[in-house]
Amino acid sequence: MLAPTPPMGWNSWNTFGGDVNEEVVRQTADAFLDTGLKDAGYEYVVIDDCWSLRERGPDGRIVADPDKFPSGMKALADDVHAKGLKFGMYSCAGTQTCAGYPGSYANEEPDAQTFAEWGVDFLKYDYCYKPAGTDGKALYRRMGQALRQTGRPILYSMCNWGQDEPWKWAASCGAHMWRTTGDIVDSWKSIQEIGFGQAGLECYAGPNRWNDPDMLVVGLYGKGNVGFAGGCADAEYRTHFGLWCLLASPLMIGCDVRSMTAFVHDLLTAREAIAINQDPLGVQARRIGEAWLHGEVWAKPLADGSVAVGLFNRTDSEPRLIPLPWESLGLHDRREAIVRDLWTCEDIGAFRGSYVAQVAPHDCALVRVRPCL
Ligand code: GLA
Repeated sequence: MLAPTPPMGWNSWNTFGGDVNEEVVRQTADAFLDTGLKDAGYEYVVIDDCWSLRERGPDGRIVADPDKFPSGMKALADDVHAKGLKFGMYSCAGTQTCAGYPGSYANEEPDAQTFAEWGVDFLKYDYCYKPAGTDGKALYRRMGQALRQTGRPILYSMCNWGQDEPWKWAASCGAHMWRTTGDIVDSWKSIQEIGFGQAGLECYAGPNRWNDPDMLVVGLYGKGNVGFAGGCADAEYRTHFGLWCLLASPLMIGCDVRSMTAFVHDLLTAREAIAINQDPLGVQARRIGEAWLHGEVWAKPLADGSVAVGLFNRTDSEPRLIPLPWESLGLHDRREAIVRDLWTCEDIGAFRGSYVAQVAPHDCALVRVRPCL
């Protein structure tokens, strides 16, 4: 299995957009090691759109832009591998990528072969410029088959923005993860719409098959390619990261990891939050308490019999007390359980019947409830 737990890594798009180049990729890989991201579990360094020349070569092969990638993709992949990391790239099911570079339509086999020769471990496959009358599922199946045919294990990240309910068929095309929505931007509105909008998709996720609510905007603070009107506050990024951990979402960092603030670093490496994302049971959280005075409660069962719970305050200015009755977790009222704060990695205490969290506006409490024996 290539993705027994949700894939973790970094993708160039949210910060760099069309300005990606090999220096950024190398320095990002270095930062994975220097800042502890690799030790925290981040593994894939992925180049998104805008890496190739506008035209294919005379042999029909796709060509890396020599100005942006003077060493070539094979050498760059080797460098990334030498650091113990994995190398990801991007193409598109249509005739062009979304930014107008060559897509893989009708070139699936040679392109998959090129990626395999370069040492690519991860392919994000987009959906722009699909020729009229073609069937999207068939195009995704074609690239899935072409990737398998190379004989190289390549994680297949499907990006059709949630069209045609991909959660129902993407895995059968060989995809290990699939986007469930349009593109995220660096705003509280976007985080909420996408994150809380995942309710109901939990039954489609599991080991090797993950719903993907798009890459993280944690740490953009309004800058970069999807930066937006000042970006988000720290509490909002905490909600974003906590929710993506609960959702068993792929954790693809989008900020510039060469210059993270201490807060962003500590959030992206939050050990016990990542542990619930990477829990081997692979269950995606479901909403168990809805819109109680703008509070929401989401629960993710874990392999050891405990349950991870996020308590979210979606009001704009009011702190809220958000209750978590044991009944909503399937626990008997009289059962004693230990509640642990997964942000501070400390036990809060033993509780019977329920727990109540005080949560600041736009923030979230992230706890684990472990029934006592
Ligand atoms: C689409 C995808 C994004 C990104 C861009 C690149 O919009 O959804 O994630 O890959 O294309 O052009």
